[in-house]
Amino acid sequence: MNKMIMAAVAALCVCGCSQNNDDAIKMITEATFPPYEFLRGQEIVGIDVEICRAIAQKLGKKFQCETVDFDSVIPAVISGKADLAAAGITVTEDRKKNVDFSIPYVTTGIVVVYSKSNPYTGPAQLKGKRIGVQGGTTSETYVLEQLGQEPERSRSPAEAVAALKAGRVDFVIADIDPAKNCVKGENDLAISDFVTSEDYAIAIKKGRPDLLKIIDETIAEIKSDGRLAKWVAEFTAEADSLKNK
Ligand code: ARG
Repeated sequence: MNKMIMAAVAALCVCGCSQNNDDAIKMITEATFPPYEFLRGQEIVGIDVEICRAIAQKLGKKFQCETVDFDSVIPAVISGKADLAAAGITVTEDRKKNVDFSIPYVTTGIVVVYSKSNPYTGPAQLKGKRIGVQGGTTSETYVLEQLGQEPERSRSPAEAVAALKAGRVDFVIADIDPAKNCVKGENDLAISDFVTSEDYAIAIKKGRPDLLKIIDETIAEIKSDGRLAKWVAEFTAEADSLKNK
C-alpha cells in the first residue's frame, strides 16, 4: 500500500515537473567562461544568463539554466533538451549547418595567453608548441586548422591556464574575456592582441523562426537600452573579484 502511494506521488511529481519544464525556456551553457557564465556558489550567473532570462521574460515564460561540458552545449539544442544555447558561442560556418544563430550580441576574438618568461611574438612561434585550449572551442579549431597540429585539451579556460602555469603547455589560446579573467592578479602571465575576430550569438534548433525572431528582438533591445553594457560591466567586475578571493 505504502509502495502504491509512493508510486502515485512519484508519478504526480514527474507530471508536475515535466509540465513545469514545458512551460519554461531552458538555457544550456558551460559555466566556466567568465564574465559570460560562471558560478556564484552553486548559481550559474553572467551576461549570457541575463540575455536568456530577458528572452524568457519577453516570451512570458519561466526560465531555467543548466551547465554541461562545452562539447555538449550545441547538441543539447539539436536534441531539444534545451531551447537556447548561450555560452559565448562563436558563429561559424560549420556550426551554421547544425543550428540557427541569432544576430550577434558581441564582437570579440581569441588571444594567446603566455608566460612573460616566454614572450609571445606572433603566430609563427606557435608551430610545434604545446598549446592548451578548452575542448570543442574555436581555439581548438584554430590549433587544428591554422597550425595543423593537435592541441592540449582542457575542460575550461582556467584549467588550460593552470597547465600553462605548471609548465605542461607552452601557450594557451582562449577567448579574450575569460583569458583576461584568468591572468587577473597573475604577474607572470600576459595576453596577446586578437588572433581572430569572432561574433557571439545564441544558437537554437533549426526551424524555430518564431523563437529566433523574439531572440533577435531581445538582443536589439538590450543593446540599445544599455542593459547589455551594464551586464558586461557588472559581471566582469564580479568575476574579477571572485578571481581575487
Ligand atoms: N567562443 C568560443 C567558441 O564558440 C569559446 C566558447 C566557450 N564557451 C564556454 N562557455 N565555455 O568556440
